[in-house]
Amino acid sequence: MSWVSDYQYTFIQKIAFQALQLSGHIPHHIAFVMDGNRRFARSKQLDKIEGHSRGFSKLADVLRWCLDMGIREVTTFAFSIENFKRSNEEVEGLFNLARDKFSKLLEETSRLDEHGIRIRVIGNLLLLPADLQRLIATAMLRTERNDKLFLNVAFAYTSRDEITQAVEAVLREDEQADDPLQPTDINERLLEACLYTRHSPPPDLVFRTSGETRLSDFMMWQLSTSVLYFTDVLWPQITIWNFLASIVAYQRDRCRLEDYRRGERLHSVQLAKSSEFYSLRVQKFLLKLDANRRKLLIALASN
Ligand code: FPP
Ligand code: MG
Repeated sequence: MSWVSDYQYTFIQKIAFQALQLSGHIPHHIAFVMDGNRRFARSKQLDKIEGHSRGFSKLADVLRWCLDMGIREVTTFAFSIENFKRSNEEVEGLFNLARDKFSKLLEETSRLDEHGIRIRVIGNLLLLPADLQRLIATAMLRTERNDKLFLNVAFAYTSRDEITQAVEAVLREDEQADDPLQPTDINERLLEACLYTRHSPPPDLVFRTSGETRLSDFMMWQLSTSVLYFTDVLWPQITIWNFLASIVAYQRDRCRLEDYRRGERLHSVQLAKSSEFYSLRVQKFLLKLDANRRKLLIALASN
């Protein structure tokens, strides 16, 4: 299957996998910043788009490793809103790659169902061409009942835009409500519940390649207590050993992370399970937000 590779493990890799599974906690959620595709392409005298295409193949290996490691949620940064500033040729090339991959995904949804993979694209879909919106919305709706591995693809995404959209959602969804939100309802928890990631726990580990040690406007709200792992290796060249090294780094740093999280606040997704967390008015608002987001997907899928 093109989104999850049929990676063949060597004996020693299998042993290393098992050792890590036995030796410590496995992250629930990992986020990847797949950087260095063009430098990789340049170093091999390949076209830029071929670099991105090799980047996608690496993502398929990484998803296989995550699935086999028992990781439940993966978020990957595939296209930043900042990437619209690149040449038309590169932007169109990336869109064509996405068209191709989402079309393939729709041809093989039974295999996604077999693995229980749910695809969620997080980002400002309305910035994308209509045909890509249709493919993405269809993929999200088609896999919405799966719940073993959540794959969030950040596409046309930046954190600042996500937070802006959350504020807009508060204003828009509440416009004609019978019981509108009150100023005291507007707080950090409500905004967090309006982010694209509203149904996900925050990433435990962030993995960025190519020697860049920035967050580049990626999940800035969600990453305050995540372990950050940076490697100099370019994304298309990472190996299973780089992946395993990041899990070791996570297991080493996790205790401090857990202490910090306990001392700070619990994530709203966990807290939302207790009915006292949100007032009835806010709960109604959030149900409406979910319903309207789903309606938008249905509209985009039928365009
Ligand atoms: C960053 O490397 C990578 C990107 C901007 C695109 C990443 C996209 C993919 C791997 C394909 C994903 C597609 C789907 C459908 C999920 P860069 O271009 O910044 O490279 P550089 O740092 O060497 O310049
Ligand atoms: Mg880059």
